[in-house]
Amino acid sequence: MFEENAFLGVDMPDLKDKIQNLKNEFEVDLKNVSNLRELDDLKIKYLGKKSLVTDLLGQIKNFSVEEKKEFGPLINQFKIEADNSIEEAKAQIIFKQTQSENFKKQNFDVSAYQPNITTGTLHPLTQIVREVEDIFISMGYEVIDGPEVESEEYNFEALNVPKDHPARDMQDTFWLDIPGMVLRTQTSSMQVHAMRNKSLPLAVISPGKVFRQESTDATHDYVFMQCEGMLIDENVNISNLFATLQTFLKTLFKTDSLDIRIRPGFFPFVEPGFEIDMRCPFCKNGCSVCKRSTWIELFPGGMIHPNVLRINGIDPEKYSGFAFGFGLTRLAMLKYNIDDIRLFYGGNIKFLNQF
Ligand code: FA5
Repeated sequence: MFEENAFLGVDMPDLKDKIQNLKNEFEVDLKNVSNLRELDDLKIKYLGKKSLVTDLLGQIKNFSVEEKKEFGPLINQFKIEADNSIEEAKAQIIFKQTQSENFKKQNFDVSAYQPNITTGTLHPLTQIVREVEDIFISMGYEVIDGPEVESEEYNFEALNVPKDHPARDMQDTFWLDIPGMVLRTQTSSMQVHAMRNKSLPLAVISPGKVFRQESTDATHDYVFMQCEGMLIDENVNISNLFATLQTFLKTLFKTDSLDIRIRPGFFPFVEPGFEIDMRCPFCKNGCSVCKRSTWIELFPGGMIHPNVLRINGIDPEKYSGFAFGFGLTRLAMLKYNIDDIRLFYGGNIKFLNQF
């Protein structure tokens, strides 16, 4: 980019002008420099071994005393100033380069292609909760939510299970350090919340986690999900309960021919009480999931016991209702063909990626 230096072999009388021209030329050339390589070239041209300045400094010893006094400082001044300007320019070029590299690092390239992006999926329990809620909402039910840390009263007593009642042994309870408080063993505690806080008639479901101190196997965990349901109005009867459960199961499993059976079941808060079982989808003649029975216990329910209505401020002479509390995690096992309940909270990414 630079022309050869035109000042080598100068005449003394023109020297002052020529140094001034050299300064001007240097300043113009310096402005055009845009990178470190060009800056090196510039330095060689103006201050290098073959430059006018070096040549003049070499010849200074031959100058007369007057010439030395007049031109010596001028030449030296140019040399020092040019050197400083070059160092300044160098610092600026390096600063700009670093700045633009940092800028590039900080900014996203929105058009960049990123292969193998993994997307998450909803946990199967979240999926079934949403599906169950949609079905019951379509039948006019309201979804309610409540505490997992519950009082003994809501978990047992207000459900017709007084202290020392043998039915408490059916659900091994996690007792808390706080007197009278438990991790709820059943979503049935939500029946009490609904009866005490809602006006009649009412139709609610409440899916949620429950906790029981038991050893685990393919169909038992110590944390699992249930879904409570309850309807209270005048003249509610057992056929309303069966019709509701049938409609729900047929919609969830998208079939008209469900192989289910109904048998009597005992729960202190319903009378009469039932258990609805579903045929095991994992075998024909019995397996470890159904404990060789070919049936899976799924859907307990019944007509709300008059004592429960009374304890919770509802007149059993006027109102009747049904309640159910099915194993939501077990229902998810049947719907998604999962043969071990422990997989749900096992955190195995291969298992979860299937949903
Ligand atoms: C109850 O918990 C009652 N509250 C249900 C009820 C509600 C009856 C309303 C009447 C009226 P049970 O203990 O049987 O019932 O549990 C209900 C369902 O939870 C079972 O049918 C089963 O599907 C599921 N279940 C019970 N224990 C476990 C466990 N350890 N792991 C996974 N699921 C379980």
